[in-house]
Amino acid sequence: MSQTEKLYEGKAKILYSTEVPEILLTVYKDDATAFNAQKKGQIKGKGEMNCQITAALFEWLASVGIPTHYIDSPQPNQMRVKAVTIVPVEVVVRNIAAGSLCRQTGLPEGQVLPSPLVEYYYKSDELGDPLLTRDRIFLLDLVTPERLVEIENMARQINKNLQKFFDQCNITLVDFKLEFGIDTQQNLLLADEISPDTCRLWDKNETDPQSRVMDKDRFRKDLGEVESAYQQVQQRVLAQFKK
Ligand code: TMP
Repeated sequence: MSQTEKLYEGKAKILYSTEVPEILLTVYKDDATAFNAQKKGQIKGKGEMNCQITAALFEWLASVGIPTHYIDSPQPNQMRVKAVTIVPVEVVVRNIAAGSLCRQTGLPEGQVLPSPLVEYYYKSDELGDPLLTRDRIFLLDLVTPERLVEIENMARQINKNLQKFFDQCNITLVDFKLEFGIDTQQNLLLADEISPDTCRLWDKNETDPQSRVMDKDRFRKDLGEVESAYQQVQQRVLAQFKK
């Protein structure tokens, strides 16, 4: 499928229209950013790796009943997706304390949470994706209360399934960020990506707090060996489908 007009270029992906209005083409880039693009770099091969990891996880999630915008992957770094209106709320699910949760609450990194925490952030680069409250979501009219319930339920369902999946890869799913879209029939679909860019993934074979990191924290914190960590995630994820 040939790409036509460039609709949007984000930090890690470019979105194109196609000859079919209901289908868009996402091209994954090697570009990496952190701290709202204050830190910029490249992770060699990331575009292909994140695209293939996302494709595998979206196909698998669809098989367990989670509707996604994913159609297929015509090239290793390209994904055909259903056109959706993206909900301007980023949903973060946390199983273990890390990152901004530790910075903002003082919880020690690595503390297992008594139950998964679901948080909402305003998808706005301009404002630096601030943490939202329920009341702020409705004040800004970002989604309806009914839709928010549906989003939370789907996010928790995705977490349960992904935790199980990554466990089989010998990886701990610490936390991750999801985005949702609404199609022309008003269906809620999981959208965007699930990859080492958008998850915290810790290697169960490692106990050292730096060696265990298999995700974008290696880039954010200059831990080195970023490419090989992403490759390791890709290998372990794809190996699940060869069993
Ligand atoms: P945080 O601890 O920095 O709030 O991140 C929580 C999760 O969300 C973590 O898995 C990384 C992911 N994330 C993104 O995908 N995009 C972002 O812009 C940020 C800040 C976090």
